[in-house]
Amino acid sequence: MKIISVVGARPNFMKIAPFIRAIERHNQSALPKIEHVLVHTGQHYDDTMSKRFFQALDIPEADINLGVGSGTHSEQVGQTMIAFETVLRGEKPDWVVVVGDVNATLACSVTAKKELVKLAHIEAGLRSRDMSMPEEINRLVTDRLSDLLLTPDRLSGENLRREGVPEERIKFVGNIMIDTLEAQRYKAERLSIKAIIRDNASLGQTLDPASLNSDSLAYGLVTMHRPSNVDVKDVLQPILDFFLHEVSKEILLFWPVHPRAVRMLQRFDLWQRALECPNLLLLHPIGYQELLRLNMDARLMFTDSGGCQEECCVLGTPCLTLRWNTERPVTLQEHGGVSVLVGNDVGQIRKAYHAVLEAERHPVRPELWDGKTAIRCVQSILS
Ligand code: UD1
Repeated sequence: MKIISVVGARPNFMKIAPFIRAIERHNQSALPKIEHVLVHTGQHYDDTMSKRFFQALDIPEADINLGVGSGTHSEQVGQTMIAFETVLRGEKPDWVVVVGDVNATLACSVTAKKELVKLAHIEAGLRSRDMSMPEEINRLVTDRLSDLLLTPDRLSGENLRREGVPEERIKFVGNIMIDTLEAQRYKAERLSIKAIIRDNASLGQTLDPASLNSDSLAYGLVTMHRPSNVDVKDVLQPILDFFLHEVSKEILLFWPVHPRAVRMLQRFDLWQRALECPNLLLLHPIGYQELLRLNMDARLMFTDSGGCQEECCVLGTPCLTLRWNTERPVTLQEHGGVSVLVGNDVGQIRKAYHAVLEAERHPVRPELWDGKTAIRCVQSILS
């Protein structure tokens, strides 16, 4: 059997690493052997957004890189489809496996189906029901086309059934991101927080060495990259001011800044203001184990990333999700998780921040988030 799996953007890399490992393990002991081809669409291309993750997660170099790069959604999707069609015609795989909900996922799903290749989607069935999110469009189309829908939790399976997906196409396999978390946890634990900060804080900020001197640092984490938060000045500026004038007076804040957020902070003339705050440390995009390490001891996280919501859930870090909805309700407090939806209104963020600042860690492990999801994905495809 021949499988092509596809990655394009940063959150895909944590999902494909365990899948490749599970194929290798299968090939060592069982038949039929799987021939695997890894395609990188090139949506993310900076070393800090791509290569660093391949190295840290031991992902073999992609067999084929489509080199698509940045652009509008239509440019990215269109160029990926054109290039991926050529790949499929040359490679003639039995299955295409896509992960997550980025533009690479959508583009390669549509191309695979048009080329009559079977399609499996890892992380199927997530729904935010927010059609202004590009990822929601990507999820809906990918799931509608998939022959095999591998779901991370039971709520996702229910979403698919409600949409009329036949039962035999849905397989509840658990969350593959957590395979990577469990595989990397030990390595992450051994990293020094202060070294991570020192190695990644060269954005022009004058670091106050005293702020890193205490033995037990009290700090929070920030990650923001969604267009709904960073592309609108009237949204981004009040949140930044809240960090600068309120949160950073109480605890240190570490913010590994996504390239999109850097661009928008600069465009809105907010970059300098952020750099001048000694207790809000802007970092380059950091590696997987480094973020995991910071998350393990953080007092709380402000994030609009779905993956970070899931990692906070398993690590027990109070998570203020800077969105009005989530496709991952299983991580929310009302489902037993640690995450609270606070949107991007500062009044609401402030209220939730004060409520969780002194909260105890409360790790939660949803069903089948057990580090063995990738094996179940491979078995489902084989059967
Ligand atoms: C994409 C995904 C989003 C995911 C996020 C994780 C879609 C629709 N969005 O959003 O779901 O959560 O990745 O990071 O697929 N850039 C660089 N270097 C890079 C890549 C991007 O500088 O290696 C800059 C470019 O200016 C680019 C911008 O970041 O225009 C946005 O990149 P893009 O891939 O279009 O979307 P993300 O915001 O990263």
